[in-house]
Amino acid sequence: MAQTKMKRAILYNENIKSILEILSENPEGISGQAISEKLKVSRSAISKIVKNLEKLGYKFEVSKKKYKLIEKPDVPFPWEIGEEGKNVIFFKEVDSTQEKAKELAIKGKISHGTWVIAEKQKSGRGRMGRIWESPQGNFYGSVFLKPDLPLKETVKISLIGGLAVLRTVKSYEITKSIKIKWPNDIFVISENSAKKLAGVLAESFGESEKIDFTICGIGVNINNSPLDIAICLKELVGEKHNLLTDFTKRFISIFKQTYEEFLKGKWLELKTEIEINMWRGKVKVMQGEKEFTGTCVGINPDGSMVIQKQDGGYENIFYGDTIIVTSQEKSE
Ligand code: BTN
Repeated sequence: MAQTKMKRAILYNENIKSILEILSENPEGISGQAISEKLKVSRSAISKIVKNLEKLGYKFEVSKKKYKLIEKPDVPFPWEIGEEGKNVIFFKEVDSTQEKAKELAIKGKISHGTWVIAEKQKSGRGRMGRIWESPQGNFYGSVFLKPDLPLKETVKISLIGGLAVLRTVKSYEITKSIKIKWPNDIFVISENSAKKLAGVLAESFGESEKIDFTICGIGVNINNSPLDIAICLKELVGEKHNLLTDFTKRFISIFKQTYEEFLKGKWLELKTEIEINMWRGKVKVMQGEKEFTGTCVGINPDGSMVIQKQDGGYENIFYGDTIIVTSQEKSE
């Protein structure tokens, strides 16, 4: 397929969704005529949609004028992720969903709650200028939000993103311990290791007293663990059909629900849930030249982290990089 085509946004399409539903309900196949009558769409339009879907990786068997769906690719196209797919702009490949969402936000082309999701990123970004390895098979998405917050408190958005990932991961009934690491990571903790499953990058724009908008970017390792210190969902749940699509569907809806709780003024309840599920052991915090080691004891109402230092005193942490300290130092 031509490079320009690959870069095109793929949007929710009701006809595509309905055709795929009809085909799934008729595993033995169904005629183009019958689909056309059900949807009141011409047979040539159906044939065109099927051809386009084949280009996107769907497999069909077409015999005796019957269409039979053989296989769906594990790609979270907007029509595969339910109602919330209407708020998704999907790309096969982008430099970074974060940059793409920011570009669309500045041009006024997206509204609150719109997601930019990509199958892979060429220049995925993490916090502190790090690279976020983004091979095909994992989740990469950035959502455009308009929170009514001063810049200092936008750490809450990062924590809410992390909580939504945690809630989604827990919906798979995983036995391993999953923890939020302040302010932006999800880790899988075992006796002597801490492995990173997901990261959140919340970037805000506007005045420091009242921001204009936030782009909350989230990367979750689903089928690949690109680094040694990483782990992926597949390693936790085992083989599951089309895991990336399944995760995306659950996550987009859980994120929306979690963010709505925040908008309804339930921050303190969310904060408590985050505290229950956060890494509360030893941490090293790095703020440029400054470094603290201590025990994470909780989160303040403004979203900052409280650590108890080795000398017994407490320190509120508003920014910086946190490293989990287990028996050895293992995580970024
Ligand atoms: C971190 O742990 O440092 C945050 C990682 C955030 C990665 C996501 S993937 C989707 C979005 N696009 C990017 O380029 N980065 C974020």
